[in-house]
Amino acid sequence: MNKDDSQRIAGLLTQEGFVPARDETEADVLVFNTCCVRKNADDRLYGQVGALKPVKIERPDLVIAVGGCLAQMEGTDLQEKMPHVDVVFGTHNVAELPALIEKVLTGRESSCLVDESSRGFTSDLPAARQDRWRAWLPITVGCDNHCTYCIVPRVRGPEKSRPKEQLVQDCRDLVLDGVKEVTLLGQNVNSYGRDIYGSPKFSELLKELATLDGLERIRFLTSHPKDLNDEIIDTVASEPSVCPHFHLPLQSGSDRILRAMNRKYTSAQYLSLIETIRQKVDDVSITTDIMVGFPGETEEDFLNTLRVVKASRFDNAFTFIYSERPGTAAAELAQSVPPEVIKDRFKRLIVVQNENSFDNNKRMVGKNVSVYIEGLSKKGRHRLAARTKTNKLVHLDGEDRLIGQYVNVEIEEAFSWFMVGKGNSVV
Ligand code: 5AD
Ligand code: SF4
Repeated sequence: MNKDDSQRIAGLLTQEGFVPARDETEADVLVFNTCCVRKNADDRLYGQVGALKPVKIERPDLVIAVGGCLAQMEGTDLQEKMPHVDVVFGTHNVAELPALIEKVLTGRESSCLVDESSRGFTSDLPAARQDRWRAWLPITVGCDNHCTYCIVPRVRGPEKSRPKEQLVQDCRDLVLDGVKEVTLLGQNVNSYGRDIYGSPKFSELLKELATLDGLERIRFLTSHPKDLNDEIIDTVASEPSVCPHFHLPLQSGSDRILRAMNRKYTSAQYLSLIETIRQKVDDVSITTDIMVGFPGETEEDFLNTLRVVKASRFDNAFTFIYSERPGTAAAELAQSVPPEVIKDRFKRLIVVQNENSFDNNKRMVGKNVSVYIEGLSKKGRHRLAARTKTNKLVHLDGEDRLIGQYVNVEIEEAFSWFMVGKGNSVV
């Protein structure tokens, strides 16, 4: 979601006549788009913007703007802590950024604009897409769940859905602009539409988008396990353009911790959901988010997480150490788990998940899959980087002209993080 916001900020500024600088030392305006989901994101922002203080003294005309979730949370406090910041703009104020920058450029007037809720949708703003063929599309913004550790509902506001007709139109426009793959975004895509239609309409939305000619791959994230229903799973199973991939955050495998997190499912319900997905959707991949060190997590709780992670055979997992966020319910809980215990659990979790990833990739060896050639691979001895429908990375040899095409590859070798394949034919 943040990356999409960054592309919209860039798109909006480009439309206003700004041009991208070659690097930050040449820029007249620097815009930071921030995250505050974990403390290390805050620290990075304060570190990077703090380091600009002497630069600003040397070049007083430099405009520094800070937006995004941390800006939303801190508001004017951010400028009190760092007076060299000219503009602070909240998550609901992206559209106003050009005017705020203009104010600084003409009158050297600094400002802070942090609205409580959104008036429009960032999807209405132009996006400077990194790739011509691929786009993100927020279908909801905000979140109505109150996971006790999470700051997102506070900085993004309540869940708001973009009407279906607008999303269909957005996708039509994207296809005309050369887009082949759309990733639908929401904190909880499964509850899409509840606020405007009275009940969730995500499967209907997927079905409608699947009818659009030229939209070859439809991806979506994130799915909350408590709202992922059979209708959605059946739609993924039956619509060829909807990619067979679910990002389904587990967070913890301990029922006690899941309750304390207010996740509203048990480990047994989670495992049964995984079972249903695997039964219904051929060659599906399932990825997840897991957190260790939630306040009060015991060794037994953690062993339950390892048990569920093993049983779920995830294709990939984003693993996090719990980070206390001021203002959340969990921040009120006493932390009894020592940092070295948390680090040890974190390492053990990664070992188990790496085995899962490797086992899943090994099962692909010898199979033929269709991949989309995304570009040159950044490292390794193979030239091209490609993605399967399940969002797995495949490296292969081939000429540059294949970039932007679908190719059939035979998987020859597996690693935890990627696979190596041999191109057979252009599809
Ligand atoms: N500490 C650590 N991880 C967190 N996440 C959200 N809030 C926190 C927090 N306070 C993780 C969750 C979520 C992912 C986007 O970030 O796992 O799914
Ligand atoms: Fe945060 Fe939970 Fe909402 Fe995800 S579903 S954004 S973890 S409150």
